[in-house]
Amino acid sequence: MKDNLEELRRRQEAARLGGGQKRIDKQHENKKLTARERVRYLLDAGSFEELGSLVTHRTTDFGMADQQYYGDGVVTGYGTIDGRLVYVFAQDFTVFGGSLSETHAEKICKTMDLAVKAGAPLIGLNDSGGARIQEGVRSLAGYADIFYRNVRASGVVPQLSAIMGPCAGGAVYSPALTDFIVMVEQTSYMFVTGPNVVRTVTNESVDSEELGGARAHSTKSGVAHRTAPNDAACLQDLRKLLSYLPQNNREQPPAVPYEMGSEWREDLGNLVPGNPNQPYDMKEVIRGIVDPDSFFEIHPDYADNILTGFARLAGRPLGVIANQPLSLAGVLDRDSSRKAARFTRFCDCFNIPLLVLVDVPGFLPGTDQEWNGIIVHGAKLLYALSEATVPRITLITRKAYGGAYDVMNSKHIGADLNYAWPGAEIAVMGAKGASEIIFRKEIARAEDPEKKLAEKEAEYAEKFANPYRAAGRGFIDEVIEPRETRRKLIRGFASLQHKEVEAPRRKHGNIPL
Ligand code: HXC
Repeated sequence: MKDNLEELRRRQEAARLGGGQKRIDKQHENKKLTARERVRYLLDAGSFEELGSLVTHRTTDFGMADQQYYGDGVVTGYGTIDGRLVYVFAQDFTVFGGSLSETHAEKICKTMDLAVKAGAPLIGLNDSGGARIQEGVRSLAGYADIFYRNVRASGVVPQLSAIMGPCAGGAVYSPALTDFIVMVEQTSYMFVTGPNVVRTVTNESVDSEELGGARAHSTKSGVAHRTAPNDAACLQDLRKLLSYLPQNNREQPPAVPYEMGSEWREDLGNLVPGNPNQPYDMKEVIRGIVDPDSFFEIHPDYADNILTGFARLAGRPLGVIANQPLSLAGVLDRDSSRKAARFTRFCDCFNIPLLVLVDVPGFLPGTDQEWNGIIVHGAKLLYALSEATVPRITLITRKAYGGAYDVMNSKHIGADLNYAWPGAEIAVMGAKGASEIIFRKEIARAEDPEKKLAEKEAEYAEKFANPYRAAGRGFIDEVIEPRETRRKLIRGFASLQHKEVEAPRRKHGNIPL
C-alpha cells in the first residue's frame, strides 16, 4: 500500500512540475504565471479539482515516445469563483509550448462537455504555440473538435477566454467563438498568420505586438473585449465579469442584496448641456443611474462612440448600451453597430435585461462607411435588438434622429418601456439640416437668407425639437424628470421581471452577417 501511494505521489509531483523547473523559470522571466498559478489565482482558494493530470500523449514520431509530460500541456478541471461552479482549462506553455496534441484537445473537450452538462461557465486560459507540430492532422482534428463544442455551447453556458501568451493560426478561432476575450498587454498576441508570413505575402513589416497584440485587438479589430496589464489583473477581470452573469441560459443573473432608499438623483439634471451640439460624457449619466461602482465596460477602447457594459440596478445585473456624445457626437457607424449588436445578443442569450440610453444624431455618412457595409452592420444592431426578448427599457437623453431613432431600441422594434428627458429631440434630423432642405427655395428667395434660415430653424425646432410629439403618439411612454430616472428604471425593470415573449416558429433567424 505504501508503495502504491508513493508511486501516485511521485506521478502527481511530476505533473505539478509540467515541463520542469527550468521552463517554469523562463515563463516567470517572461512576466507570465504558469498554468497552475493562473488557475489558483482565478479560482477561490483551495477550490480547484483537477481532472486528467496524468494524461500523456500517444505520439511516437520524431522521438516523442521518450518525451512524456503528465497532463500533456493543459491543466483542466473545475472549481468555484465567489462560490459559484466554473470549469477551466489552462494551457501550460512549459510543456511543448502549450501546443495542442490530440490528447490535449481531448482534455479540453471533456472539460467543455462537463461544463455544458453541469450548466456552468467555461473559462479558457490560452497560452500555446498552436498545433503540436509533431502530430500533424490529429492536432487539427483536435482543434475542430473544440470549435464544434464552442458553437454547441454558445448561448447555453457563458464562455470566457483569456489570451495570456501566443495564440496563432487556426487556434484563434476557439477564443473567437467564445463570448468574451481578455488579452494581457505585451505578453499575448493573436493572429491568423504571423509577421513572417505577412512579410512574405504582403511585403508589410510588422512585429507580433503591432500585428496582433492586446492594443491592436482592443482598439482596431475589436477582437478583444478588454485588456489587462498583467496575468493577475486579467484573471481578476474574468472574476468580475462572471459576477454579472448567470451560470447558464436557464438561470437569471445573480442579484446582490440591495435595500431601497431614496432613489432620486438630483445631479442627473445637470449632465446634459442645453446646447444640442455640445458634447457631454454619457458615462456620467450611466454612473448617475446605476448602483455605485457597478459599471463594468465591455470594449472600452473600441468604437467608443457607443458604450456597452454590465451594471447593477438595485442589485440586479443589466446590460447597458449608450451612445457617447463625446466621441463622433455619438453617431452610429459600422463598428459601433457591430459592437452593440454583439453585446445585445449576449445579454439576450443569458437573460440579462437591457437599458439603452439614446443621444444619437444618426448614421455616419460617407464612402468609407457605405463601401464597408454600414447598411449591413447597422442592420445587425437593428436585428439584434428587434430579436431580443429580455426586458428592454430605453431612455432618450437628448437627440434621437432619423433611422437611428428606430434602431436604438425604439418602441416600434419591441422595447418594453420608453422614456425621454424633457430636453429630448425626436425628429428626422436636426432643425438646421431639416430647414435647409424643406425651406430651400423660400430661403434662397429671401432678402436676408441667413435670417430666414434662422427663423425657419427656430420654427422647426419649436415643432419637433422636443419629446412631446412622440409622447403624444405613445412612442414615448412617459417624459420624465432626470432626477426620477433611477427610480423609474428600478420599478420598470422590476415590473418586467417575468416578461414572456413567444418566439416565431423557425429553425433560426438569419441575422445579416
Ligand atoms: C510543438 C512547440 C510548438 C508547437 C512551440 N513548441 N511551439 N512544440 N509544437 N507548435 C515548443 C518549442 O519547441 C520549445 O520546446 C517550447 O515549445 C517553447 O518554444 P520556444 O520557441 O522556445 O518559445 P518562444 O521563443 O517563446 O516562442 C514561442 C512561439 C514559437 C512563438 C510560439 O515557439 C513558435 O513560433 N512556435 C511554432 C508556432 C507554430 O507555427 N505553430 C503551428 C501553427 S499552425 P523546448 O523543448 O525547447 O522547451 C496552427 C494551426 C492550427 O496552429 C489550426 C487549427 C485549425
